[in-house]
Amino acid sequence: MAPTRIVLAGGTGFLGQCLIRHFRRPGVEIVVLSREQLPAYANVRYACWDGRTLDEWAAELDGADVLVNLAGRSVDCRYHEANRRAILSSRVDSTRVLGAAVAACRRPPRVWLNASTATIYEHTEGERPANTEADGVIGRGFSVEVAQAWEAAFWACPAPNTRRVALRTAIVLGAEGGAFPVLARLARWGMCTPQGSGRQWISWLHATDFARAVEFLAQQPGASGVFNLCAPQPIQNRDFNALLARTLRPLLRLPQPEWLLEAGAWALQTQTELVLKSRKVYPQRLLEWGFEFQFPGCEAAVADIVRTVEA
Ligand SMILES: NC(=O)c1ccc[n+]([C@@H]2O[C@H](COP(=O)([O-])OP(=O)(O)OC[C@H]3O[C@@H](n4cnc5c(N)ncnc54)[C@H](OP(=O)(O)O)[C@@H]3O)[C@@H](O)[C@H]2O)c1
Repeated sequence: MAPTRIVLAGGTGFLGQCLIRHFRRPGVEIVVLSREQLPAYANVRYACWDGRTLDEWAAELDGADVLVNLAGRSVDCRYHEANRRAILSSRVDSTRVLGAAVAACRRPPRVWLNASTATIYEHTEGERPANTEADGVIGRGFSVEVAQAWEAAFWACPAPNTRRVALRTAIVLGAEGGAFPVLARLARWGMCTPQGSGRQWISWLHATDFARAVEFLAQQPGASGVFNLCAPQPIQNRDFNALLARTLRPLLRLPQPEWLLEAGAWALQTQTELVLKSRKVYPQRLLEWGFEFQFPGCEAAVADIVRTVEA
């Protein structure tokens, strides 16, 4: 059944905007939960929340078809103590309070898709098999602990009448935000060479397929549990950068050894983990459920995104 009322918690960010563009069609009402009060337009409305406290916004969930939670402080920052706390609590608290709101609904949402991350899996190098939902190996370290706490908070919510899906999403590539515009800008300045060894895997997903996969999962009555949201063809960092170089044709090619990336990450107030972790993930369950990727390979995905940027 096509959704007619969708609530997007944290829907003002990159992925929320992807979903708004995808679902903005006649007959669909979209309600975005944001910490900011924003004006409504077309069939998109905003309700104010703080991501932690049950309040009037909770009424928006009553009778909704689909709830998608995307709220979370950006991970593109230095992982010092205050940022670590904010990254963790913004995800766990928003999930818990949505759970309380769902529990209070007379007509709870049919389906609740909660963001998680493909970073939950271990650093997987070389020819080792990609991580599937069934056989994937959970990793270690701060980002993994956040992902585990986030998913644990989600499954702990009492929501017996709502189908639930945890979205272990890989790096979403799109023209309008997220990692791609930053990577493309760096590539144009010559940083389109292997980062570190360049052997690390990148699991990725075109923004169009992200939105299509969310709609697909929302419409499959029996689909619940964990789903990897990534294209079926991960790419190694050196091949991804070679692809950027071929597509964007910068004049310079600057080497990017690990020590330089560390210095750059400090200067830009970000973390090298975002580019050095080897994420090799496979969308086993999406494929088993019959989802067809519009962009299974990275070359066509990058060409499409660059075409959109340049149009
Ligand atoms: N983009 C990717 O490639 C990717 C991949 C895997 C997983 N994810 C996960 O998917 C989710 C959405 O990603 P995104 O790229 O759309 O992120 P984003 O652009 O940073 O948007 C996240 C939204 O969360 C809200 N938010 C930020 N801090 C918050 C806080 N302390 N409490 C409550 N809400 C807060 C913000 O909305 P308001 O300011 O309007 O409240 C913001 O627009 C994130 O949790 C991210 O970790 C993203």
